[in-house]
Amino acid sequence: MALFSKKNSTAQSGRPDFDILPEHVGIIMDGNGRWAKKRGLPRSAGHKAGAEVFRNISKECGRLGIKHATFYAFSTENWRRPKEEVDALMRLFKEYLLEAKADIAAAENNKLRFIGEREGISDELLRLMDEAEEDTKNNTGCEIMLAVNYGGRQEIVSAVNKSLREGKTQITEQDISDNIYTVPECDLIIRPSGEERLSNFLLWQAAYSEFWYSDVLWPDFTNEDLYSALREFEKRNRRFGG
Ligand code: IPE
Ligand code: IPE
Ligand code: MG
Repeated sequence: MALFSKKNSTAQSGRPDFDILPEHVGIIMDGNGRWAKKRGLPRSAGHKAGAEVFRNISKECGRLGIKHATFYAFSTENWRRPKEEVDALMRLFKEYLLEAKADIAAAENNKLRFIGEREGISDELLRLMDEAEEDTKNNTGCEIMLAVNYGGRQEIVSAVNKSLREGKTQITEQDISDNIYTVPECDLIIRPSGEERLSNFLLWQAAYSEFWYSDVLWPDFTNEDLYSALREFEKRNRRFGG
C-alpha cells in the first residue's frame, strides 16, 4: 500500500501534484495599498512589492501546468485614483515590460499577453507591450494575461462592437465568446485581501467560476496560498446547472 496518496505527494521541487487543475485561473491582485499602509510606507511601495509577487506567481502557474492565467493589474476604474498613484503604477508597468522578455524567457516557456483597452495607455507602453507579446508568441507554456486598463463590461462591449463591424446584426453568445480577450470560461477566481467581489473582472468568463478568497494581502501571497486555492478547487463539485 502506498504511504501517500497522489494528492499528498510532492515532487522533488516541493511542488504538490494536483489531480485536477483549473485550465484558466483568474487572480485579482488586491491589497497592495493596505499592505503598504500597515508598514507606514507609500502605496507605491505596496505596488512594487505586489509586482514582484506577480512575477513569482505567474511563473508558478506555468510550472504547475496551468494553461491560462489572467492577472488583474489595473482596472478601467483605477484611473480614478490620485495621479501620483496612477503614475507610479504605470512606471512599475514599464519597468516590468523592460525586463519582461528575459523574465518570461527564463520561465517555463510562458507566453505573455496584455488584455484591456489600449486607449489611455501611452504609446511607449503600447510599443513595449506589443514587443513582449511578439517575443513570446510562439512559446507553448502558460498563457499569462496581464489585465491592464481592463474592465469586464468594456470587454463585452468591445466584443459586441467587433461582431457588428464584421457585419453581424444578431449577436449570439458564441460571437461574444469568440471575441472576448481570454478563453470563454474561467475555472477559478482567486481574490486575496479579504474583499469578496469581482470588481468588474472577467464578467463573461466567470459564469461558472469557482471562487477562492483569502485575507492575505497580495504582496504577502505565496506559492502556498496558490496551492491552497488549487487544493480547494479540486474538492469543488462543479455542476454547471446540470
Ligand atoms: C491592488 O491593490 C492594485 C490595484 C488596484 C492597482 P490596491 O491598490 O487596490 O490595494 P488596496 O485594496 O487599497 O489595499
Ligand atoms: C480590483 O481592485 C482591481 C485590481 C486589483 C486591479 P480594486 O481595489 O480596484 O477594487 P475595489 O475598488 O476594492 O472594488
Ligand atoms: Mg484594492
